[in-house]
Amino acid sequence: MSAANPDPTLFDVIEAVVQGMLARMQTSLPGQIREFDTATHTATVQIAIDFEYVDDAGERQSYRPEPIANVPVAFPGGGEYGTTHPIEQGQTCLLVFASRSIDEWYRSGGVGNLPASKRRFDPTDAICLPLSPRPKSATDLPTYEASAMVVSMPAGGSLKLGQGATSFVALADKLATQFGILKAAYDIHVHPIGTPNVGVPTVLAPTITSNDVAADKVKAE
Ligand SMILES: [Fe+2]
Repeated sequence: MSAANPDPTLFDVIEAVVQGMLARMQTSLPGQIREFDTATHTATVQIAIDFEYVDDAGERQSYRPEPIANVPVAFPGGGEYGTTHPIEQGQTCLLVFASRSIDEWYRSGGVGNLPASKRRFDPTDAICLPLSPRPKSATDLPTYEASAMVVSMPAGGSLKLGQGATSFVALADKLATQFGILKAAYDIHVHPIGTPNVGVPTVLAPTITSNDVAADKVKAE
């Protein structure tokens, strides 16, 4: 008991025990990704909120929990379908702490896993959801649209449909523009008769490259 209460009742004792248990029981907390292993999709994550305890003098003391290593990072998807996105160092995430040890399940998958450890709601059993529950700033939130799913990305970022996608998809408006240029050249061209350019149109159709019709960010295969 704290020094502030030298004569605790039974209720005080029970409450202190329960508070002590709750203090060690983690359910979900925001975190910050420190390192990300691209091969295993695991991360080292710093819990973003400091822990507290009451010292012998009854004073609240805080401390920063150790970063958690080898935290599985859960991207959306299942089976052979899934999405990934770049993980930036320092990115905010949401940590979910399993109520039992997930070690055996993580190694074997499936069902029927019996944990060797008896730990419950432990930081060691965190799963990292690389979500952004909090924007970096008020202007950092992508603009919400009521009738469209929007995939936002920074300048230089790209969206790939298929892991091996290397070609940028064509955009309808760019295609229409280039077809318009082709049509204009076709409509005005004539074929002069006589030397030296017998039969060659007076206006040649333009050369169109993939850059003329491609999207800047979206690749597909
Ligand atoms: Fe012609």
